[in-house]
Amino acid sequence: MNEKPFKIAIAGLGTVGAGVIKIFEENYPILKNAAGREIEIIAVSARDRNLSRGVDLSSYNWEQNPIKLAELTDVDLIVETIGGEGDPAKSLIEKAFLMKKHVVTANKALIAHHGHDLALLAEEVGVSLRFEASVAGGIPIIKALSESLAANKISRVLGVINGTCNYILTEMENREESFSTVFSEAEKLGYVEKNPALDVGGIDSAHKLAILSSIAFGSRINFNGIAIEGIENVSLADIKNAKSMGYRIKLLGLGRMTDKGLSQEIRPCLVPKNSSFGQLEGGINMVMVDGNFVEQATFVGPGAGSGPTASAVVADIIDIAKGNKTYPFGRSTESLAIHKRAEEDVKSAYYLRFSIADKPGVLAQIANVLGYHNISINRMRQTGHDGEVAPLLIVTHDTERSGLELALSEIKMLDICLAAPIAIRIEEV
Ligand code: HSE
Repeated sequence: MNEKPFKIAIAGLGTVGAGVIKIFEENYPILKNAAGREIEIIAVSARDRNLSRGVDLSSYNWEQNPIKLAELTDVDLIVETIGGEGDPAKSLIEKAFLMKKHVVTANKALIAHHGHDLALLAEEVGVSLRFEASVAGGIPIIKALSESLAANKISRVLGVINGTCNYILTEMENREESFSTVFSEAEKLGYVEKNPALDVGGIDSAHKLAILSSIAFGSRINFNGIAIEGIENVSLADIKNAKSMGYRIKLLGLGRMTDKGLSQEIRPCLVPKNSSFGQLEGGINMVMVDGNFVEQATFVGPGAGSGPTASAVVADIIDIAKGNKTYPFGRSTESLAIHKRAEEDVKSAYYLRFSIADKPGVLAQIANVLGYHNISINRMRQTGHDGEVAPLLIVTHDTERSGLELALSEIKMLDICLAAPIAIRIEEV
């Protein structure tokens, strides 16, 4: 047992910060034994001192300005659970490093945008920067990628890493409701971030994917290198069609190392209904990793919420209190490579939906354009004609997205095409 207590201060007492205190209140003997020493919370900071948080703050010093926490000489570690990609979170972390204090954060936006510079600074001063809670809440995927799977050359990391989107897509399918209906309900239930684009626009997933691919591929974090498509345009019609063909639609984060560089995408995809991703319900997250020796490892669990996220924060605190050292992104930050962005070159099958005029020769025109662009048809279905409009569903063989986009833009110009064609990738998982 280390005789010296490890002292921490917490900035931000929202769902996650208060969750950390709750774990200390309920599980302290477990934390102490795991760390091999006492861990004391000595100070906290939040915007509103009088807010009821369901935890007892009376024994902690209160600092109105979070930056002041970093100036407390006896603090060893700062927990940053303020959130947001900029200040005060960023200045607090920088100040903490300058004062030679370790930092644990749950802030994915901040790490996605400034993680590289912060990691360099932490290494320069010889302290730890940990962010297990920033991706997939309670799933220990950062530790798994940077430590447990460190022996592997990773070729693909993919995940459902936004619980709100998975909840919305699942509810749309199970209750046969539109995106707008389920989205409004989810907002009322408090499931959607203050800025909804973070969730349904795919940005939150992209923050998390940027972190995962940096660790998986030894790349310098590159949020701007991610192609992002959210779920706002996923229609109930496509969800039902997918279901009838044995698929479900999921918002996937996909990172792949290809011969042409690093491909990072957030996209709604069709996944086989009987696959592990296809069976994922509600707000649960899942991450799958393909490595050359481990083959395939899948991690599943709650991706958000006070308990799971705070559990990841406290695990990082314990690790640092024990004296464990790891690089923030799994290897020395200086050694992280700047990988070229691979532009959508990964070949995949696609689900296509066309609304076309119900006239002779129409099918031939569509097939002709697809054939011209070397896109081979695997399956085709036409049901639900309403007299003038014929919905046409096509599943292609593996094809490059760039060729498909050219073909679809030509088809869209044909006068028999009555609405913009829909294309959703099919991901074999
Ligand atoms: N809005 C996020 C989600 C919260 O639904 O996954 C956790 O990052």
